[in-house]
Amino acid sequence: MFDTMGRNINYLRISITDRCNLRCRYCMPLEGVEKLGHDRILSLEEIARLVRVAAQVGIRKVRLTGGEPLIRKNISQLIGYIREIPEIDDLALTTNGTLFADMAEELWGAGLDRINFSLDTLVAEKYKYITRQGRLEDATRAINKALELKMEPVKINTVLIKGFNDNEVMDFADLAYNRPLHIRFIEFMPIGDLKFWNRENIISSSETMNLIKRKYKLIEGGKTIKGSGPAKYYTLEGGQGSVGFISPMSNHFCGECNRIRMTAEGKLRGCLYDKTETDLKVALRTGAKDEDLRQIFLKTINAKPDKHNMNSGWGAENHRKMYQIGG
Ligand code: 5AD
Ligand code: SF4
Repeated sequence: MFDTMGRNINYLRISITDRCNLRCRYCMPLEGVEKLGHDRILSLEEIARLVRVAAQVGIRKVRLTGGEPLIRKNISQLIGYIREIPEIDDLALTTNGTLFADMAEELWGAGLDRINFSLDTLVAEKYKYITRQGRLEDATRAINKALELKMEPVKINTVLIKGFNDNEVMDFADLAYNRPLHIRFIEFMPIGDLKFWNRENIISSSETMNLIKRKYKLIEGGKTIKGSGPAKYYTLEGGQGSVGFISPMSNHFCGECNRIRMTAEGKLRGCLYDKTETDLKVALRTGAKDEDLRQIFLKTINAKPDKHNMNSGWGAENHRKMYQIGG
């Protein structure tokens, strides 16, 4: 399904819970996070039905996110439901990984195709600081497990924050050189707990890339990496993995954006940064037919903004957080 800008919208990201077992400083405040009650979020069956409808309007790729998706009960069952939808040819998960190692086989058995881990630092004390309550060893155990099970490609999302982890860029690059890991450096966005965000703390992708180039020869494109989306990828000459750069702040990739998003409460959004959303849950629970739901998807795709306005002070007026929309 093409939108008004000629973009082929084939990717749906679904936040399956707004809860998280961590409290990353830039994402959630420590306390006072309002939790959605169980009846306020979509059931697994409701989500599966919506994915079936989305497949009818051209969605081919689904990513489950959160909050932390692995704290949602019976997530494997949901993976199984989505796996049964023949049009969906790519089913991925974004997780902080802390609960992953013990669930890996089950998730894989249910039909998950790929996984992205969020990991901002390789230093245990810094991990504890930024997540407020996580343990680095749980995250690294998860990544090792994914590599062991050959869950190719294993991607890592790293949000770079000046003064916090900018001195680790090379360690992450070394990791991508030594192991078949795809590290994606993400520019820090004004979304989440804005008390932590600061324009001065953004590190642009070009700065990061220049740093890595001092040590490694970067080869553009390289092998194709499944689901490369808005990231620009480079393999490291002689190395095993790759580095990628996601540059929402320094470079609009909106022209290539192929996604729509659904929140845990069933709000459908055309863009992470646009406040417009349509309530699928109310429709579902007041007896909507598939055709009615399909119309909501079509309307959202057609109303997808041409680009975000994050650089023009949007952050301050954004009331929905990353953990509520899905990263
Ligand atoms: N800027 C950039 N990335 C963010 N994420 C969460 N909040 C922000 C932000 N303000 C990332 C998470 C995770 C992904 C889902 O989104 O760290 O890697
Ligand atoms: Fe949880 Fe991810 Fe937010 Fe960290 S960034 S608190 S892991 S949802």
